[in-house]
Amino acid sequence: MSTHLYQMSSKLLVDTVGKVNDNLTSVFLAASVITLTLGYISKLLLRHDTDKDQKHPPFIPSSIPFLGHAIAFGKSPIEFLENAYEKYGPVFSFTMVGSTFTYLLGSEAATLMFNSKNEDLNAEDVYSRLTTPVFGKGVAYDVPNPIFLEQKKMLKTGLNMARFKEHVKIIEDETIEYFQRWGDSGEKNLFEALSELIILTASSCLHGKEIRSLLDEHVAQLYADLDGGFSHAAWLLPGWLPLPSFRKRDKAHREIKKIFFNVIQKRRQSGEKVDDILQTLIDATYKNGRGLNDDEIAGMLIGLLLAGQHTSSTTSAWLGFFLSRDKDLQERCYSEQKAVCGDHLPPLQLDQLKDLSLLERCLKETLRLRPPIMTMMRMARSPQTAAGFTIPVGHQVCVSPTVNHRLQDTWAERMEFNPDRYLSDNPAAGEKFAYVPFGAGRHRCIGENFAYVQIKTIWSTMLRMYEFDLVDGYFPTINYTTMIHTPHNPVIRYSRRRQ
Ligand code: HEM
Repeated sequence: MSTHLYQMSSKLLVDTVGKVNDNLTSVFLAASVITLTLGYISKLLLRHDTDKDQKHPPFIPSSIPFLGHAIAFGKSPIEFLENAYEKYGPVFSFTMVGSTFTYLLGSEAATLMFNSKNEDLNAEDVYSRLTTPVFGKGVAYDVPNPIFLEQKKMLKTGLNMARFKEHVKIIEDETIEYFQRWGDSGEKNLFEALSELIILTASSCLHGKEIRSLLDEHVAQLYADLDGGFSHAAWLLPGWLPLPSFRKRDKAHREIKKIFFNVIQKRRQSGEKVDDILQTLIDATYKNGRGLNDDEIAGMLIGLLLAGQHTSSTTSAWLGFFLSRDKDLQERCYSEQKAVCGDHLPPLQLDQLKDLSLLERCLKETLRLRPPIMTMMRMARSPQTAAGFTIPVGHQVCVSPTVNHRLQDTWAERMEFNPDRYLSDNPAAGEKFAYVPFGAGRHRCIGENFAYVQIKTIWSTMLRMYEFDLVDGYFPTINYTTMIHTPHNPVIRYSRRRQ
């Protein structure tokens, strides 16, 4: 599953090296860095010039061997890309940590990625080394893309409107219960709270009641260890290195699979037909008539949970900070709850959720300014043409929602958080890929509707309980060291609403 892992940074080596303490691991690490460096140098030396007649994208030079632009990019990737766009135009290349990246910025250039075939611009080549140890074999980027597309279709069947109706109630109940621990007022880490809550809501909705009932502190720790597999170290270093985080990830993977196998087998044996996603997967068949085996089902359940976890918790947290920064907007959202659902604020219904259009626009605008996936990546397996340039085989081709969502030529008052911009004509509407927080084409997200239901239900419930404020006016800066750009020091002030 696209686990949203696409961020290169200068922290890459620093993080990795910093976390390694024992000598043995250091030796392995040094060996790998040397191997990578030698590979890089030989690649440079052996580079054929068979394609010298072709016009390659403008190349941003760097005087730092091997690392290339990793430090500048890692420090402030958006600024780096925006400056490069100004200087070189929508298509340009640069190197980082021995790899060459070619960015396609703006709607038109992005067309190449979103309309491409997976054989030409390949997702497995860039994502699989991170996702396969976490989800397991036989699913997502471990299988040929046509099989993954069939798996996505099965998951999509499970994410339907009838289920969403149930999900609203489940999420509302989980949210009310979770925030009981916050009391009447205080200051708390909003991102941490939403991450914890979203594991609970996603497990209830996407895994079903048996797996949710097993979710205690131990299982939450297993998810955290598994999630630790999505690290810069896992991306950069060979999987056989005995790093503690790799070992934890693999152990957690085995334990979680064991838990899921038990539940799947019990469900199969009981013959009970529960109306949930687990049942959809148990009953699903590939085009050739084969059903999913337990390993595939367990892998898809892990993928479902983790694909939505960071994306939704980060988005929810940023939404909270945008609403806290603009108290008028927050009050308009609260009034909308009453206008749509009734003054006494009865339990939420899916139909009402759809009518909460201001909250919806706030979420849409949050996804514009803080799309959790900063970059989507593919490996060029054949030469590709964009804006008249030939992108050579071996380049990592990237599209950045973050940059597309704030291009000067496309978005009026581009840095303003203005949910009402969607009420009037806006130039971006005419550009197919100007707004792509959920991607597009064959790798497009299947979780968009669920994410909207989940985040809108959580924030409806929270707005009914509390008023939120920034702490001493602090609006979080962006933490670029995490793969998904989380808010830095995300503490919020809250006080119970008097109705
Ligand atoms: C705010 C929430 C979310 C955002 C912003 C988001 C964003 C994205 C993006 C940008 C992609 C495309 C990646 C690429 O082209 O490389 C994607 C793919 C995907 N997402 Fe999400 N996602 C979210 C939530 C979810 C949830 C809740 C689920 C599951 C329930 C999910 C499952 C998937 C799957 C299965 C793919 C397909 C990957 C592929 O075909 O390569 N996502 N998502």
